[in-house]
Amino acid sequence: MKQKCALLLVLVSVLVVAFGCAAFAAEKKIVVGFAQIGAESDWRVANTNSIIKACEEAGIELRFVDGQQKQENQIKALRDFITQGVDVIGFAPVVESGWDEVIEEINDAGIPLILSDRTTDIEGTDYYVTWMGSNFIEEGEKAGNWLVEYLAKNGRDKDQINIVELQGTVGSGPAIDRKKGFENILAKHPNLKITQSQTGDFTRDLGRTVMESFLKKGEKIDVLYAHNDDMALGASQAIKEAGLKPGSDIIIIGVDAVKGAFEAMVAGEMNVTVECSPLLGPQFVEAVKKIVAGESLPKITYSIEGVYPQEVAKDVIDSRQY
Ligand code: AHR
Repeated sequence: MKQKCALLLVLVSVLVVAFGCAAFAAEKKIVVGFAQIGAESDWRVANTNSIIKACEEAGIELRFVDGQQKQENQIKALRDFITQGVDVIGFAPVVESGWDEVIEEINDAGIPLILSDRTTDIEGTDYYVTWMGSNFIEEGEKAGNWLVEYLAKNGRDKDQINIVELQGTVGSGPAIDRKKGFENILAKHPNLKITQSQTGDFTRDLGRTVMESFLKKGEKIDVLYAHNDDMALGASQAIKEAGLKPGSDIIIIGVDAVKGAFEAMVAGEMNVTVECSPLLGPQFVEAVKKIVAGESLPKITYSIEGVYPQEVAKDVIDSRQY
């Protein structure tokens, strides 16, 4: 009898511990650190909102740091996440180089790393679990192809076309790749030339200032290729102030497909935007959950994106989410 009671006691204790652990596991929130670039553009703000909303909806505790477009701020945030022992780190690197040391520290700490939107120049892919974002080279190529077709449609395909380029943040993936993609197309069309090119750091203010300086040179400008819509919209302001009509005197090409670009196109002040989706939140959360559950993930997931010329802007504008 005594033996039976002891056995029962052991069984009850085991069940209590097991239930306790299960309850604790059910209650334990996943903690994610996210080192964002900043709030330099409408795209970035939409990207931040998408990540915050998706984490909230999934009950994930998000520790979010805005790096204010400074690499040192992002490095500090990443080190803080290591110290805090978060479950997963999400990271959008402002530029491609200079991350080796901090990423080695993340890897040594055994914290899974998700790259979102941008990548680094570190060799190989072992240092992160998964990356999600856009194919920036393809975006540049889409911009170039649109221009070639547009010029042909308007009987200007044999003309000498001068293009000014507003580049994104120096050393960033999208600035390097959007330039490369666009130039891949120009290489097949010797009459299309980039005559001036400078960074506008993906911001509206710099887009306007740099465009002002392009215009002041007094050279003929046929096309503006801006690596994002914010810079295109800032530049459009400078074009108007110079007494010209954006969208007709100067053809304007942007990237991102933010609402502001659609408004400008409806007003006839911009010609096309190449889509780059910032709505990565749901995908990011899915990846976090899979990592925590020990499931495997693809190394790369590209967003599916379109090209929106002025002709379709009016029909599409109301359906835009950002
Ligand atoms: O990395 C994506 C780019 O970053 C967007 O095109 C730009 O608007 C943002 O700042």
